[in-house]
Amino acid sequence: MNNKEKLSQLYQEAVVNINGVITRAEDAKVSIFDRGFLYGDSIYEVTYSDDKSILFFDEHLDRLYHSASILNMHFFIDREMIIAETIKTLKHSGMGRAYIRIIVTRGETHITLDPNSTIKNNLIIICKPQPHFDDLIYQKGIKLSLIEITVNEIQGPDSHAKSGNYLNNVMAMNEAIKLGSDDAIMINKKGFITEGTTFNVWMVKDGILYTPPISSGILKGITREKVLDICGDHKIHLIKEPISPDHINQADEIFITSSTKGIMPVSHLDGRCLGNNIEDWPITKRITQLYREVVIKNKESKEYFYG
Ligand code: PDD
Repeated sequence: MNNKEKLSQLYQEAVVNINGVITRAEDAKVSIFDRGFLYGDSIYEVTYSDDKSILFFDEHLDRLYHSASILNMHFFIDREMIIAETIKTLKHSGMGRAYIRIIVTRGETHITLDPNSTIKNNLIIICKPQPHFDDLIYQKGIKLSLIEITVNEIQGPDSHAKSGNYLNNVMAMNEAIKLGSDDAIMINKKGFITEGTTFNVWMVKDGILYTPPISSGILKGITREKVLDICGDHKIHLIKEPISPDHINQADEIFITSSTKGIMPVSHLDGRCLGNNIEDWPITKRITQLYREVVIKNKESKEYFYG
């Protein structure tokens, strides 16, 4: 499918809710004076539903409000309203398994950087079929490149807020694709590994699992938190410490985590092959199985069921 066909498929399949009004994807429009459009002055969350249950919704809502507080964004929308509107959109879509993107912008402005210039947020909820990653990807892994792009530093507000400002990540992904990889791991100013463009990063060396700490300037991924819990519960030896390119280049296994991808193995880093399939990566395989159990448990709790 070419890009035009992919876009028209999205228009056909997505259901959009703008400030409580469900709109055909094709007609869904936000003002050009919205600060999300003018300055990337927005925050967002991505989760998904399965069997009509929204996964880890509380955690995503907590992070949404945390992002707002980091960015000093005045929130005119309460949590119950976001929950109700998300459920309304999902019910309208008829989808049992959906990708859910919740975007909150600081609102419309009279073209000024002053963040106090708005009177209300815009809330946009997009539901579309959950992207299907081929089973083969989970068997064979993906190819990543290390990209030395100056990612947002810990002192800046952006590293922990899930803001709508993803230009560094866009540029890093573009560089990685040029190098023949699927995606990128970004490196911070101090020369340490941070995270991928839309995922957290893990490596295994001699049976020990490593992941960068939050202080490396990464997003506190919800999936990352679940994997940290798994390590604690199952006594998997984990070290959270800054990871250098030299260290990750000697990894026996690498995997990535995100809400949409789950646990995904990495087959190549900068062209170095780490193995041929999941059987070569025992810790990745074990964590994949344990994470699947956590997801099933959350789904079966039916806490956010919209059936
Ligand atoms: N991305 N780091 C970055 C920069 C991210 O954008 C994401 C999520 C993660 C993983 O977080 P979580 O486990 O909570 O999904 C880490 C989502 C999936 C996205 O933007 O589509």
